[in-house]
Amino acid sequence: MIEEQRRIFLKQSMQSIGIAMCSGSLIALLQACETNEEIVSSNVNVIPFILDLKKAEFSALGSIGGAVYHNEATANEGNDIIIIRLDQTKFLVVSSICTHQGCTVNLPSVDKSTLFCPCHFAEFSPTTGEVLVQPKQGSATTLPIFRNEYDPTSNELTIYLPGNG
Ligand code: FES
Repeated sequence: MIEEQRRIFLKQSMQSIGIAMCSGSLIALLQACETNEEIVSSNVNVIPFILDLKKAEFSALGSIGGAVYHNEATANEGNDIIIIRLDQTKFLVVSSICTHQGCTVNLPSVDKSTLFCPCHFAEFSPTTGEVLVQPKQGSATTLPIFRNEYDPTSNELTIYLPGNG
């Protein structure tokens, strides 16, 4: 009889352990789903803007290496972006906000061909947005890069920016 009770006890214990393990897996699965939803929702909040490069405000982009600031109030938290023409059909679009402590980086110029941050002197590549020179203290990372597509027929550049909030 004692042997029978032990067998029943063991069977019930194993069932309890099984339920606990399954519920743990279920919780992990649900958490993974929540994480994926966050990624999806952040992707959904990307807004396309079509820029007519024939407009005077973009005239600097008529030349390879030309660069301009641009602002879309409803995107990139209202911060300026930088658009640089890399060749006849390719553009780099990055945030103008320094990844060190948030100053606005300069456009490439005759004096500095890089995207130079005047606050602590970090420098970023004007072709990739990567850090070329770290700030005097601390460190910076690559500027946020935004996808873009150029239509040479219409001379329009579509840029995809993160929407606000
Ligand atoms: S904020 Fe740009 S280098 Fe510090």
